[in-house]
Amino acid sequence: MNFFEKVKPLIYKIDPETAHNIVELIFKTARRCPLFFNPLISKNFILDERLRQNIWGLDFKNPVGVAAGFDKNATMIQAWPALGFGWGEIGAVTVRPQVGNEKPRSWRWPEFEAIQNAYGFNNDGVDVIKERLKKIYPFVLPIGANIGKNKDTPEERAIEDYKILVNELKDVVDFFVVNISSPNTPGLRKLLNAEFIQNLFNELKKSTNKPILIKFSPDMEDEDIRNLANLSVIYGADGIIVTNTTVNYDLIDTPIKKGGISGKPLAKRSYEVLRIVASEVFGKVPIVSVGGIDSAKEAYKRIKAGASLLQIYSGIIYKGPNLIKDINEGLIKLLEEDGFSHISEAIGADIPKRLELKDNNAS
Ligand code: FNR
Repeated sequence: MNFFEKVKPLIYKIDPETAHNIVELIFKTARRCPLFFNPLISKNFILDERLRQNIWGLDFKNPVGVAAGFDKNATMIQAWPALGFGWGEIGAVTVRPQVGNEKPRSWRWPEFEAIQNAYGFNNDGVDVIKERLKKIYPFVLPIGANIGKNKDTPEERAIEDYKILVNELKDVVDFFVVNISSPNTPGLRKLLNAEFIQNLFNELKKSTNKPILIKFSPDMEDEDIRNLANLSVIYGADGIIVTNTTVNYDLIDTPIKKGGISGKPLAKRSYEVLRIVASEVFGKVPIVSVGGIDSAKEAYKRIKAGASLLQIYSGIIYKGPNLIKDINEGLIKLLEEDGFSHISEAIGADIPKRLELKDNNAS
């Protein structure tokens, strides 16, 4: 039994938000201390050319990234490589600071290896977060900002919020993720529609040349996912992230019917949505898979289904801080077993269309 497995029962006695705040405090306190981070980087950060990709002109040293919500206020970025991550997203960031929803607003369901959260974009606001980012940007790893609208911004003025966020952060992050898929801001998911996306990308593209990705909800109908994936690309999205948390409470039989569920129970739907999106836009823009990834096997499955990059949040809560290293090492083994010499050869290997093309070429 490793150290994490030993202390896990103790950690789970603390409520999830407090536990997260303790982790943040440790990383924040240690951030100027190379003696703390350097040994962890040597131990956990896998540097292997087979996993390295250049996407959007950015150097992704490995494909496993920090999912949005883990480092909401950009206070832990120095810890990302120490945990083994090759990139990540901060946020969600809003224009004005926000306290978020009432506590408690985060729950663990260990029997399902799931997390449920109803935070509601609690964050320090763009001005404070920008100052923090200025001090470390450019960083050794690509950093994206997950951007959301304030709760009290009416839907018809949402685009203004996203525009301000892009303008304020464009010199201190490498890419953006438009978040209109969180279940915890009332009305936000209504913005996942063609007209809004068209207007949004129109406006944001005027402000920056940096990549702008869009993150989808797993709770849309399959047909809507197909349409929105195609339209997002047409309107200018540089990538699609699938998926955010789900409000399908039947998945874990939860007594709490608020917020979104992440972790293992989300894996099946997240994979399905990835396959749908890949069947429409694979090869046009990079796809990022997130939702229930907690092993190298699951990570590899997503890569073969068309994901160029991956993200993790809940897995680290249940499998511990060695997970990212284990995934990266496991991916190298799985690539070897399949006879691939670089991750790019495995990306989309399971997409039927691509197999057909290969067969045609072969004949
Ligand atoms: C999240 N997630 C999230 N997503 C987002 O786009 N903006 C956000 O602010 C947050 N906040 C957030 C808080 C907490 C506590 C959790 C658990 C999750 C969703 C997250 O980025 C990811 O899409 C899902 O959690 C699915 O991945 P995992 O957790 O199953 O690996």
